[in-house]
Amino acid sequence: MMPMEENSDEAPASYFIGKKKDIIKAKRVSKFMNGRDVLVLYHEGKFYAMDAHCYHAGGQLENGDIEEFNYKLCIVCPSHKYKITLAEGEGLDSALDPKEKNPVPLWFSKGIKQRVHTVLEVEGDIFIKMSEVQGWIESDYYQKEQQRQERQKCAQICAAD
Ligand code: FES
Repeated sequence: MMPMEENSDEAPASYFIGKKKDIIKAKRVSKFMNGRDVLVLYHEGKFYAMDAHCYHAGGQLENGDIEEFNYKLCIVCPSHKYKITLAEGEGLDSALDPKEKNPVPLWFSKGIKQRVHTVLEVEGDIFIKMSEVQGWIESDYYQKEQQRQERQKCAQICAAD
């Protein structure tokens, strides 16, 4: 399959992000495409893509650390430390067993919370194929135009301070 460019006459199937070597160097690239803010990550030899704003309250995942929890690589949202698996967009949480003397965290899934997208590599270029998962995924909320405008307002206020 040959990815189509954003400006194609046909309905776009995938979106050019950049040169593979440039994304590897940058490690993280955020782009607005097809009405969404998408974050593309390069970590330990693999590419990942997901909605750029955290499903919890719209935090900027671009600034999150990547750590492993429950044997899964996660991005940790910088706002309130929610953990989101890179590959699936699954929310992970943990609990402690109060009956244990030295409790260790027990991890559990909260389900798919963050919309993830498919990364395609074609001849040294990186493209994103947008998620076609039907139905509501919580991160969809922060992709609405109203949310985008509020973020812009906040950024202007912060820049003015
Ligand atoms: S906004 Fe991401 S954890 Fe709250």
